Amino acid sequence: MKNVSIIFGSTTGNTEKVANLIKDHMTDCNVTVSNVVDAKDAMIESADLVLFGSSTWGYGEFQDDFAPYYDNMSSDLLSGKNVAVFGCGDSVGFADVYCEAVNLIIEKASDCGAKVIVEGLKVDGEVDDNLDKIEAFAKSLL
Ligand SMILES: Cc1cc2nc3c(=O)[nH]c(=O)nc-3n(C[C@H](O)[C@H](O)[C@H](O)COP(=O)(O)O)c2cc1C
Repeated sequence: MKNVSIIFGSTTGNTEKVANLIKDHMTDCNVTVSNVVDAKDAMIESADLVLFGSSTWGYGEFQDDFAPYYDNMSSDLLSGKNVAVFGCGDSVGFADVYCEAVNLIIEKASDCGAKVIVEGLKVDGEVDDNLDKIEAFAKSLL
């Protein structure tokens, strides 16, 4: 069974909700969902697939808890890993930097030698308005 680690940063709970919805759709995988503040290297080392999730705050910035984690993402840990990225944002209020954290994490993971296996999932506005998109993303990872 495929081991999947989902590591998320979320301020108001939206990206956390998406993380858990993704898990629910990956029924044939062994999936763990962890807040980035509790993330350990072993969660990545033991995973066949790693999902990183961060909402975007400020103006195109990482969710607060994810920022220090991003700084420590390294090729030692990520080289050769299969990775996918997701996050929540608001395309109406922040069109120029909509879900910028997703873009930045994809860039960093690629720079660290990870294989980013699908396009990032950007969840716009209410999570409940994006359920089909979230399901399709999760199934594209199987
Ligand atoms: C002060 C503030 C700044 C924000 N900045 C951005 C931004 O730069 N880009 C974006 O796409 N969304 C932005 N958002 C929208 C949030 O990313 C969105 O509310 C998201 O669902 C929060 O997810 P979370 O609960 O997982 O942290 C901002 C929201 C607030 C209140």
